[in-house]
Amino acid sequence: MKVEMRIDGEAAVADVDRPGESLLSTLRDRLGLYGTKNACEQGECGSCTVLLDGDPVCSCLVATAQCEGREVKTVVGAVPRPVRDAFIACGAVQCGFCTPGLLVSVADLLAREGDPRDPVIREALAGNLCRCTGYEKIIDAVHAAAEAMADEAHRAPARSRAAGSTEETP
Ligand code: FES
Ligand code: FES
Repeated sequence: MKVEMRIDGEAAVADVDRPGESLLSTLRDRLGLYGTKNACEQGECGSCTVLLDGDPVCSCLVATAQCEGREVKTVVGAVPRPVRDAFIACGAVQCGFCTPGLLVSVADLLAREGDPRDPVIREALAGNLCRCTGYEKIIDAVHAAAEAMADEAHRAPARSRAAGSTEETP
């Protein structure tokens, strides 16, 4: 069965031979997209989180056959640069196994809520388990990313005003 999707903005076709093949298996084993991690394959850890039509899902629990015509975003296409930078700067990455799923969940949270408080962050990340860092550094990273994204959004209009005034100069 051929399944056509868009993955990180690119058209992709997966030739799936089992109706129950998971999106996680298709991404990693069939399409060679290793950014999405397999840690439990049972919907328990969140390491395999991707966005499916904009909603976070455990890709180990989604059948690829259900993804015909849908938009998949992995850690490669879903995560703004400030989120990745903040995880590194705050020491929120150790073995890195949970990191792609966490980054996708944080990107989803910050797209919905620009400056989330700690309880909101904890709830949003409740499905993402990390065995290494403890969660304080991860929460620090979410705050740092939110601040960096707010700064970026604040500077963008100023930059476009400056570009506009240059263009108008004879
Ligand atoms: S690998 Fe999917 S939730 Fe753990
Ligand atoms: S950094 Fe190792 S599981 Fe989270």
